[in-house]
Amino acid sequence: MEVIIQPTREAAALLTAKIIAAEVRKNPAAVLGLATGATVEPVYTNLIEMHHKEGLDFSLCKTFNLDEYVGLNGDHPASYRYFMNTHLFDHINIDKRNTHIPNGMASDLKAECLEYEEAIWNAGGIDIQLLGIGLDGHIGFNEPMSSLQSRTRVKQLNPITIRQNAGYFGGPDKMPRRAITMGVGTILDSQRCIMLATGASKAEILAEAIEGPFCAKVTASALQWHRHAVVIVDENCALHLKNREYYDWSFNHQPEWAPFRT
Ligand code: F6R
Repeated sequence: MEVIIQPTREAAALLTAKIIAAEVRKNPAAVLGLATGATVEPVYTNLIEMHHKEGLDFSLCKTFNLDEYVGLNGDHPASYRYFMNTHLFDHINIDKRNTHIPNGMASDLKAECLEYEEAIWNAGGIDIQLLGIGLDGHIGFNEPMSSLQSRTRVKQLNPITIRQNAGYFGGPDKMPRRAITMGVGTILDSQRCIMLATGASKAEILAEAIEGPFCAKVTASALQWHRHAVVIVDENCALHLKNREYYDWSFNHQPEWAPFRT
């Protein structure tokens, strides 16, 4: 796992977008794993700008989102389908038929989860998976104690997560209690993982995930097990990291990062 600390939230999001864009340029038919939430919004803004200004081409890309709420259809403004359309897909040249988000309205949720896993497999697997981290340390909606081998399934949301996202629904009482989410095992199968975390409110859980034990209590810690994971944080979120000197030294000296250093 590599950790890259950027001065601001904007710089962290821009670097994340640049890494995804580099993947798309190298492999125009890339399979992108995508996330939703406030943290990744500026990543999508940057990708849209790269599409318009630099001709970044998504026409052959496929996407798979991490999760969707059970019981919401894609027209609901708080659904992740709606989020993805409005924050990214409507503004780039992606074929919407190649964009995949679990169907939270499926009558057979178990079958939907199995089919989602199959669709990822049939696409050849995810080349690069974008992630955020929840206040409880989740990736996707893999709440504390999720199996680190789990696959796509329905998960009961943590009250911490319900409080975190209640704002999108006009209050915790209006929030769905369950979501379909890729499992930790599904996420770990991606060729590359890139987690973006910004802001002081995530600083403690981020440090636990990165420098604490590899454990189901904080499912983001599973990235320690991944063969090619990059964690990008801003200064505010880096507050409790102990190995800062090494992270900075590594980013500034590794040839792989030369094109990304400004
Ligand atoms: C969303 C997702 C979640 C979020 C996490 C952070 O698709 O999978 O894990 O990435 O809850 O959300 P924000 O960025 O809103 O703090």
